[in-house]
Parts: sequence; structure tokens; C-alpha cells
Amino acid sequence: MTTETFDINRMPRGGPDASWLDRRLETDRLEYLDRDDVDDRKRKIIRSLDRGERFFGIHRKLARIVLDEVTDVREPKILELGSGHGGLSRALLEMHPTADVTVTDIEPASVAAIAAGDLGSHPRATVREMDATAIDAPDGFYDLAVFVQSLHHLPPPLAARVFAEGTRAAAKLLIIDLSRPPSLLHLVMLAPALPLVIFPYWHDALISSLRAYGPSALRALARYADPAITLDLRRQAAVLPGSPQIAVASSAR
Ligand SMILES: C[S@@+](CC[C@H](N)C(=O)[O-])C[C@H]1O[C@@H](n2cnc3c(N)ncnc32)[C@H](O)[C@@H]1O
Repeated sequence: MTTETFDINRMPRGGPDASWLDRRLETDRLEYLDRDDVDDRKRKIIRSLDRGERFFGIHRKLARIVLDEVTDVREPKILELGSGHGGLSRALLEMHPTADVTVTDIEPASVAAIAAGDLGSHPRATVREMDATAIDAPDGFYDLAVFVQSLHHLPPPLAARVFAEGTRAAAKLLIIDLSRPPSLLHLVMLAPALPLVIFPYWHDALISSLRAYGPSALRALARYADPAITLDLRRQAAVLPGSPQIAVASSAR
């Protein structure tokens, strides 16, 4: 990694040039998903995420975005990091007849639950624990690494490591995460949602929004990880609530 003039530890989620208001719309508070003392609650939130994403057809929509990145590979090797429940990997395997998918998460209980289901015995799936900041694979082993709705869980130094590791272990790293709305819109969206924090799912959703990285932050993280990384951001303009930020990173090395 290289060092830059700004302090990566203190980089705002809106990026080094974030406005005064944007810098206030963030928090160090952890989501339940990030805590080690609430295992049952974590499992419930992961199951709710899976149910919601299945109900709205999000797994398949995300899978289309993922598969668009490997159209030129006949038998793509795809690594899903931070899989949580395995819903995206399952959709990838259904929608691509020859893709090989490694389904991973840092959370042992999530990996155990995925391995105990259909993906555990799927002939083209491998289920295992993996930390997105320290990928256990040789350089260039995968055609694509994918990290969905997860980057915001990591503080800037670790998020930068995901860029370094994802582009080392795979030809391309695809990050899909919550978009960080322009500050005023963000404020208007957050205010009415505040009372909902009593519900664990919404507690985490609200914190996620406050921790989402903006386009400028994503560029800074990639640059900090390795100036040789090229970043293609698919959503840089003002966005409607709920539309994801898509970032595709690859390294010239
Ligand atoms: C909000 S969930 C997203 C789950 C799933 N990708 C989805 O879109 O519904 C975030 C996931 O990231 C995982 N995670 C957090 N830090 C991680 C890390 N360093 N490496 C791999 N996974 C991580 C968590 O365990 C959790 O399963």
C-alpha cells in the first residue's frame, strides 16, 4: 500500500472533500451485524435480508450485474465475499450453467448455515470462511470477486484492503453497496426513519446509510490501496433512495 497526504483513518465516508453537513451524517456506532455479542439477532437480520432480497427479486438483479462482468469468460471462477446467506451465489449458479462460485463470509455461523443448505452440496459451489481484507487465494485466481452490501461495514483502512486484495486475487473486483445520497437528501431520508431504530433490521439499515461510502471516498480508497487500480463508478450522480452504487476495480499489475 502507498501512503497519501490525507489520513486514511480519518477519511469521511463522503470522501476527503466531503462537505460540513456530509461529515455530520456519519457514525462510529456498530450495526448488530458487526457485533460479537448478539449472535441470534445477527442471524435474524441475515435471514431478513435474504427474504427481502428474494421477495423483490434482488438476488437475480444483482446476479445479472455480476454476470455482465464475465461475459467474455466461458467458465468463470467467481468469488463472493461477505455472502451472508448465499442468495446471490445461488442465483449466479442458476443463471450461469458453467460458472464456478466460491461462497464466503467472515462470519462462521453464516458460513455454517450456507454450507448446511443446498449450496453446501452444489457441484459448482465451494463454501468457506474468508476475510475480504485477506483473501486466501493466489494472485489472479478468480475472474471476478464480488462484495455486495458489505463495504460500508469496514472502516476506511480495511475498506482499502478490500480493493487491494480483491484486485490481487481476481481480474476484477465488483463492489455493490448502498449509495451515499447528497447530504440534504440524506438528511431528509434519515429523519423520518429515526423512530424505526427500535427494530433491529432498521437499526442496521440506518447505520448502514450513515456509513455508506460516497463516490469520492471510493476513488480515494482505491487510490490509497494501489494507484495502479482503475475504478469505474457506475453511479456518481445524485441518486434516488435505494439505488445502489456500483464500482468495478481492476489493477494494471
Ligand atoms: C449486510 S450483510 C450483506 C450480506 C449479503 N451480501 C447481502 O447483500 O445481503 C454484510 C456481510 O458482510 C460480512 N462481512 C463483514 N466484514 C467482512 C469481511 N471483512 N470479510 C468478509 N465478509 C465480511 C458480514 O458477515 C455480513 O454477512
